[in-house]
Amino acid sequence: MIAHSEEQPSRPKPQSFTVKVLRKNGPGQPSYWAYFTIPYEPELNVISVLQKIAARGEEDGGKKCSPVCWDCNCLEEVCGACTMVINGRVRQSCSALVDRLLDEDGATIELRPMTKFPVVRDLMVDRSRMFQALKKVKAWVPVDGYYDLGPGPKQSMAAQEASYPLSECMTCGCCVESCPQFSKIELEQQSSESAEAFAERKEAEYDENFIGPHAISQVVLFNMNPTGEMNKRERMDAVTEEGGIQVCGNAQNCVSVCPKHIPLTRSIAKVGRDATFHTLKKWFDWS
Ligand code: SF4
Ligand code: SF4
Ligand code: FES
Repeated sequence: MIAHSEEQPSRPKPQSFTVKVLRKNGPGQPSYWAYFTIPYEPELNVISVLQKIAARGEEDGGKKCSPVCWDCNCLEEVCGACTMVINGRVRQSCSALVDRLLDEDGATIELRPMTKFPVVRDLMVDRSRMFQALKKVKAWVPVDGYYDLGPGPKQSMAAQEASYPLSECMTCGCCVESCPQFSKIELEQQSSESAEAFAERKEAEYDENFIGPHAISQVVLFNMNPTGEMNKRERMDAVTEEGGIQVCGNAQNCVSVCPKHIPLTRSIAKVGRDATFHTLKKWFDWS
């Protein structure tokens, strides 16, 4: 086994540790802190701690409470659903190890929902704006059909190697949480508004605002795909509209928090260059 010289020696573990959770019963409700003291066990992650809290059913001091609500799916840092702010750092709760958090931050673990999305309940947020951005930029390869289309065009090894890291995006939200240009949008359904009309209004509002670095990076991924390339023009139209690449202030916070180490600033620079060509080409076509 290779020892990492930069690894900090682990601290002696406490007998118990406190988990401080920023809770909220639903949209429009006030937030409040709840405290749970959990007996220490080795090799817990934040999700197993939340499961222990759910099984206990009461806060410190004996007050009965409902289980803390959170989102998760894969439990191996692939789906992105369990993202939250843990001890001030946005990350996935399934890969946040309690031993490491206690070593780094002492005997309290603070859990908050991400701040750039509407809170559904407790630590669960509505990330649909991120998926709407992927819809806007057509982040897919259109291969649906009623008959066998045969094998697609070949992609060189170099192109595969360049696109693979971009394909690892799990729409987790870490990049947009850290992005100063991505502001929270939280709309309320009016009493006279149907669910469909509300969903439409939300999508229109999302489309007018910054799509975020994750969507910009997917533009690069699908434009470089030999089949996906046929929608390049529509993607470039979308990414140069209101809420597109021009909103990025190049602060580069996004790249430093991406758990998949996706080269987001490289993607942003590439789309920026392509956007200039695309706009010039449109002017030229129109002249
Ligand atoms: S680019 Fe990285 S941080 Fe952003 S959503 Fe994808 S995986 Fe998460
Ligand atoms: S580089 Fe652009 S997308 Fe990334 S954090 Fe900065 S403003 Fe946001
Ligand atoms: S549960 Fe899928 S990333 Fe954590």
